Amino acid sequence: MLLPRYTDITHGLARRPAHISPKYFYDQRGSELFEAITRLPEYYPTRTETALMRQHAQAIARAVGPGRVLVELGAGNCQKARALCALIRPACFVGVDISDDFLEEAVAGLRAALPGLDARALAGDLTQGVDLPRDIPRAGRLIFYPGSSIGNFDPPQAVELLTHMRELVDADGGLLIGIDLPKDVAVLEAAYDDAAGVTAEFNRNMLRHINRLIGSDFDTDQWLHRAFFNARDSRIEMHLEAREDLQVRWSGGGRFFERGERIHTENSYKYPLPVFTGMLARAGFSQAQAWTDERGWFAVVHARP
Ligand code: AVI
Repeated sequence: MLLPRYTDITHGLARRPAHISPKYFYDQRGSELFEAITRLPEYYPTRTETALMRQHAQAIARAVGPGRVLVELGAGNCQKARALCALIRPACFVGVDISDDFLEEAVAGLRAALPGLDARALAGDLTQGVDLPRDIPRAGRLIFYPGSSIGNFDPPQAVELLTHMRELVDADGGLLIGIDLPKDVAVLEAAYDDAAGVTAEFNRNMLRHINRLIGSDFDTDQWLHRAFFNARDSRIEMHLEAREDLQVRWSGGGRFFERGERIHTENSYKYPLPVFTGMLARAGFSQAQAWTDERGWFAVVHARP
């Protein structure tokens, strides 16, 4: 029996063109593959953001202030939280992520690295709205959403999520967010189609995850990784493309894919800074201070209501 919460997957697969939400990349293996992506020579966002945070550490610390209730959305391996906690000394840390096994381990590592820090792991899907436990103080909250993950949502949904983040904080709260900026197409496309094939494996691994969730029989060898920049929408698109005519079955259904048919698995929007600050303003964050690298590839933005 198909669990009702996975009907979004089967509905998406039945569409033409088919699509699956990028949140299904992140099973244990997918989280590990994503970590490997962040270390690839072609994948500049993580490295650029880390360098920016390091270069502007003091200015960021001053803007944010000490003793915050730090809430990281999509905390992953908590590597970025570790550096930020050491810098801003928050009163407590809550890491929220969809992949909870991976997160528990990462938060335990954070506690070990920063003894005395009240650090907690919270399993949660940002797209469903995050409910923070009642004992997490509202005053002084700082939402941390690094890595340019906001780019993985379509603009209206991104504004909705930013609005949700605004609702999580009081007037004294803030948001520290990373965004990837538009740049040379060759740089962008290499970052999402690396020479070692790690991103291709990350994309195909989603099918293994889906097989477990909906009881489907996707064979990853039958699917090609496709990644390209869509200039009209200023986004990288990732797809899986059928190498041959094939039939896929799942509990209670199935579908035929013709050779060359695609499943759209991800968008990664590259927003110019003024466009993004406009989106922040629509979400209720009217003040924004941004730090960018000298190539103008990435920005870290501190936004306040
Ligand atoms: C998580 N997110 C910001 C990544 C990105 O760059 O859009 C996901 C990713 N997909 C392929 N490579 C990395």
